[in-house]
Amino acid sequence: MTTADALPPGLVTALRQARYIVALTGAGVSAESGIPTFRDAQTGLWARYNPEDLATPEAFRRNPRLVWEWYAWRRQLVSAAAPNPGHLALARLERLAPRFTLITQNVDGLHQRAGSTSVIELHGNLLRVRCSAEGAVYTTWPDVADPPPPCPACGAPLRPDVVWFGELLPPEALERAWRAATTCDLFLSIGTSGLVEPAASLPRVAYASGATVAVINLDVTDAVEERLFYLHARSGELLPALVSAAFPDADAVTR
Ligand code: OAD
Repeated sequence: MTTADALPPGLVTALRQARYIVALTGAGVSAESGIPTFRDAQTGLWARYNPEDLATPEAFRRNPRLVWEWYAWRRQLVSAAAPNPGHLALARLERLAPRFTLITQNVDGLHQRAGSTSVIELHGNLLRVRCSAEGAVYTTWPDVADPPPPCPACGAPLRPDVVWFGELLPPEALERAWRAATTCDLFLSIGTSGLVEPAASLPRVAYASGATVAVINLDVTDAVEERLFYLHARSGELLPALVSAAFPDADAVTR
């Protein structure tokens, strides 16, 4: 496990010298805020729930109320949670790096609450809903006895504004993420198992395009290869230490 005092010096230098840094985050970044991941063996959502019952367009057609209420439960978890030091370190990195793009698969909005101002949301955001027929997006909706509530414009059921299995990612977000991966010089893949495409391809695309890549999660074993760092670490512990090590002079003013 990489601890704060054993950061690979090559990664600290890469972070300090990078002209364009991209970070891709997954559920692991929010784990220390108390939000369950998807694939962790005991606590992951997909260990307890079947995605086919809850996270597909067919599931919503079959049982819209069940799907709506599952997302309402997740929304409550998120509202009760707070950004953790990993989210805060990424917000800080956005302010310190010459150029920085944050791409997330998370739908919890915690990066924005931590202060990140420009976030590419690949899988949507559960704090928004949209019309299941016409796609209009809403950030508020009525509480109804028999959810989901109807779209105020056309009456079709509202659904969470997230990407479900079998659905395409928002094309503009994907295009921006792809462009970022192919043009950055340092790519950080943080708290994601890298099992869901197309997000999973982004670190590979960045590496193939010449970037240095660092993978930070609890699935990997510490290793350093040419332009490649694997760090077995908690993001809430590692990221603040990494950012402070790369930008020591900024500590006093931007913490
Ligand atoms: P996963 O649950 O697949 O992976 C979570 C990753 O975070 C694993 O690699 C863990 O080792 C790591 N992890 C756990 N705690 C951590 C910590 N404190 N610090 C750092 N890493 C930690 O979640 P995702 O990769 O985000 O999609 O899953 C990708 C997509 O699959 C999700 O966006 C969701 C899901 O199905 C949709 O719902 C469309």
